[in-house]
Amino acid sequence: MKNKTTAIQVQLKQAEEMRKFLSEKKLLRDDLKISKDNTFIYFPVKDVPNELGSCNVVRKKFEKKEIKPKSYKEIASLPDKLKHGLPTSYDVIGEIILIKLPNTLLRYQKEIGKALLEVNKNIRTVCMVEPVSGEFRTRNIKVISGEKCTTTTHREYGLTLDVDIKKTYFSPRLANERKRVANLVKPNETVVDMFTGVAPFSIMIAKNANPRIVYAIDKNEEAVKYAKQNIKRNNVLDKVEVINADAKEVPNILQKKADRIIMNLPFSSHLFFTYALKIAKKHCTMHYYDILKEDDVKDRIDKLKKIAEENRYTLTNLDTKKIKTYAPREFYMGIDITANKMPM
Ligand SMILES: C[S@@+](CC[C@H](N)C(=O)[O-])C[C@H]1O[C@@H](n2cnc3c(N)ncnc32)[C@H](O)[C@@H]1O
Repeated sequence: MKNKTTAIQVQLKQAEEMRKFLSEKKLLRDDLKISKDNTFIYFPVKDVPNELGSCNVVRKKFEKKEIKPKSYKEIASLPDKLKHGLPTSYDVIGEIILIKLPNTLLRYQKEIGKALLEVNKNIRTVCMVEPVSGEFRTRNIKVISGEKCTTTTHREYGLTLDVDIKKTYFSPRLANERKRVANLVKPNETVVDMFTGVAPFSIMIAKNANPRIVYAIDKNEEAVKYAKQNIKRNNVLDKVEVINADAKEVPNILQKKADRIIMNLPFSSHLFFTYALKIAKKHCTMHYYDILKEDDVKDRIDKLKKIAEENRYTLTNLDTKKIKTYAPREFYMGIDITANKMPM
């Protein structure tokens, strides 16, 4: 669309000087594009003050600038007084946005979804989500805008992961952690990923390290379906074996012992620590994940040490880090642990 407006016409060689002057004086119209021909440049202006009296002032049509809103908050159609409650962050999995909304904004969910779709051109679905829950760590999800489809393909560090955000667990916020762990894996290690989900840890390791084998275990049939699909898609069929089982059964199923075990089942990982130790080699590295308040970390570590002792292991090199915030003062924690079998 074109508008006829007042403009300052200057020779091309004077363009930079004039542009600087107009911007400093805040006279330049920022909704229109500056135009030029072979001889002149035309600056659309809001006003022509006396100091520009000697310049050539013309009337001209200009192309409108496409002004992209910086954030969905700018265009979401809801009362201004509620806008401060709009979340500043949300998860993006493939082409799906997952956003948690406070109760005060629930009646504006459609408007919020629409605004998110409008500013994120690569997104096709916006979902309102509740925290993960239940045994399989899945979420209650409601599509609030875009296509009513909960499957998507997510990419991280060169991996291609198919996910159904309704039926399987997946968090894009663990990407750096998965890469960090993969970088620690030494050639020929046997790795067990006890709660694999759609297998992002297992595939990251198979792609970036050179393990002998990664056993990827999950109890959720849907997760296992996607894990198998992802292993094929990422060409690591020879490095990852998927097992649909309860992790407690793993000592009975696996005849092999592990150099490295990943335990990513926050809130419940400690309940499986005994079973992990039963498949650990004499010297084993464990990547243990939990959701904890900072004050509770010591208690949890003491508990793990007690379980280890009962299984004749000692735990050393415990290294705790916060991976992401879960709730006020509660964190998704990662603990690297070395487990060593006690001498007989
Ligand atoms: C927090 S998710 C972790 C998924 C994955 N490691 C990732 O990073 O995306 C935990 C997974 O453990 C699985 N799970 C829950 N209880 C289990 C059990 N007893 N045995 C095996 N898997 C289980 C769930 O189905 C879920 O996929």
